[in-house]
Formats: sequence, C-alpha cells, structure tokens
Amino acid sequence: MTMILLASNENPLGMPESARRAAAAALPGAGRYPDSNGTALKHALSARLDVPADWLVLGSGSSEILELAAQARVMPGEHVVYSQYGFVVYGQVAGQVHARSTAVPARDFGHDLDAMRAAIGEDTRLVFVANPNNPTGTFIEAGPLLAFLESVPPQVTVLLDEAYGEYLSPAQRYDSIAWVRRFPNLVVARTFSKAYGLAGLRIGYGVAQHGLAGRLNAQRPRFNVSTPAQAAALAALNDGAFLARSYQLNTAGRARLAAGLHELRLASIPSAGNFLMVQVGEGRTVHARLLAAGIEVALLDNYGLPHWLRITVGLPEQNEAVLAALRDLAPAR
Ligand SMILES: Cc1ncc(COP(=O)(O)O)c(C=O)c1O
Repeated sequence: MTMILLASNENPLGMPESARRAAAAALPGAGRYPDSNGTALKHALSARLDVPADWLVLGSGSSEILELAAQARVMPGEHVVYSQYGFVVYGQVAGQVHARSTAVPARDFGHDLDAMRAAIGEDTRLVFVANPNNPTGTFIEAGPLLAFLESVPPQVTVLLDEAYGEYLSPAQRYDSIAWVRRFPNLVVARTFSKAYGLAGLRIGYGVAQHGLAGRLNAQRPRFNVSTPAQAAALAALNDGAFLARSYQLNTAGRARLAAGLHELRLASIPSAGNFLMVQVGEGRTVHARLLAAGIEVALLDNYGLPHWLRITVGLPEQNEAVLAALRDLAPAR
C-alpha cells in the first residue's frame, strides 16, 4: 500500500522539474564545499526582493533562520515571546538558547497581538510571529501586523515567519520586505520547503537589515546549505509556472477539503496555509485509523490540541481519499 502522506505540509506536487534538473546538474560539483555565501541565489533574491545581498541569510531550511535569530539575539535567561499554538519550533529554539519563554494565550486559535505586546518586558529579546501560523492556519491582516511592529520596542527582534506566505490570496498579501526596510529589528523568514517543493533539500532564507542580518550570518555554520540545494532553489525561484500551479492546486484543494469536512460535520479552522486543522474527537484514535487506511496526517497533542488533527492539502484524489476515510470512520467517532 502506498501511503498518502499529509502530515508535514509538503507540496503534493513534489519538486519542480526545473529544480530537479538544476540539482542534478549541480551534483558533480558536490565533491567540493558549497559556496558559503550562496552568491548566485543571493544575487537572484536580492534582485527579486530589491534588497542588498548582505541583507540575506541562507539557512538549512527556514528552521535554521529561527535558530540563528535566537542564537544571535538571546542570552541564557533572557525572554522570548510567541503565541500559544504558534509553530512548535519556537519553544524548542528558545529552549536551545536557555531562554525564558512565554507562550501567550491564543485568541480564536490565532495570535493575540495585543497580549503579545503586553508580554514584552525589559528582558525580552525576540518575538516569533507566524503568518499564516502552523498548525492553526490562522492569518493576521497586514494592518494589525504593521501596528504591532510599530509598537514593539526597537531593542526587541521580531521574527516574522512566512513559511506559507506563497499560499496567501492576492487580497491577503502584504509587502513585508518594505517593513524590513523600515524596521531594523525585523527578520522575515521564508522557505523553499513548501510552495517551492524542496523540503528535503533543506533551504530557506531570512531578510533583515545589514546589522541584524550580519549578526545572524555570524552565527551561521559556514557550509550550511549544499550546492544542489542552492542550485535547486535558484531554479525554483525562477519557475513562476510551478509556483502558480502549486498555489492553484492548494487553493482549490483546501476549499474542497474544508467543504468536505463541513459536510461530515467536522469543525475546521479557516486556513491561509496548505493544511487544515480539524476537530475529530479523540485525535489519537482517528489518527491511528487513518494510518490503517493508508493516510498519514499530523497529531497535535504536542500543541495541547489532542482533539484536533492537521491535514495537509494533497492532490485532488488524496483529498478525496482522506474525506472518504473520515466518512467511513464516522460511526467510530
Ligand atoms: C510556520 C513554519 N515555519 C517554519 C517551518 C520550517 O520549515 P523549513 O525548515 O523546512 O523551512 C515550518 C515547517 O513546517 C513551519 O510550519
């Protein structure tokens, strides 16, 4: 039985063909160390985003950008703020640097920015905001997010995690790079793992003004991004057709999943990402039964959400399969 993997918010299309070819072409050069400056990719990103190349930090996935931000900004005992149900790695990263952390109670499963602002104290060094957030899929409009950035004291770094930014609708999109130009304390983190389809190659990036980007780069392991990963990311960045296809597939699939869950009388949270959080009763039981039916979704008890599961939007037939499996389980729930 081929498993249907809907547990890790990967792109169901897999790698773009353009990136596969670029990575393959780069492989013979992998007997040498990679370009530690990621020159070609940074050049392309710099042109795309209209920022100097030294405002960019390449990471082994955007996870590493989160780690570098904590290493660069937080001393043991200092304070980190994020949202309850914020991406689980924020708490882990804070723990790695021995920070004191506050998970600010969520509002309607999403970030309560007023409460997060209020949680910032004298010794707060770093605030994580995911937009959209994983696993809830919740989205903060540009207006309140900008007001939050304006309210944060300049000595506090804000890491705005846009791992799922490419899935936002045109009406939801905002220009966070313009905010980076305005706020020297802002890092925007992005990834090639989701809409660009390169999760296994491990590549993401951060954008911040020169001083802050320099501090992150100073913490960065020298050869943290492999040659094939850099080549694939460059190809994917230039593959507008693949990105458009990923966006369309996700938008349609997410709507279909949401409608199907609604028909099954299962509550889900409106999502701006490539996944849906759904309330199923006993999460572990339903998770195990879906596994037995050949479908892997994500448990959320590590978020304190044992009655919810997270389902990544898949190919149309995969979405139908998960809905059919949930329908079959209905008597058991
Ligand atoms: C909100 C969020 N940020 C960051 C990441 C990290 O992804 P990666 O390290 O693959 O870029 C993820 C992955 O699931 C995520 O959900």
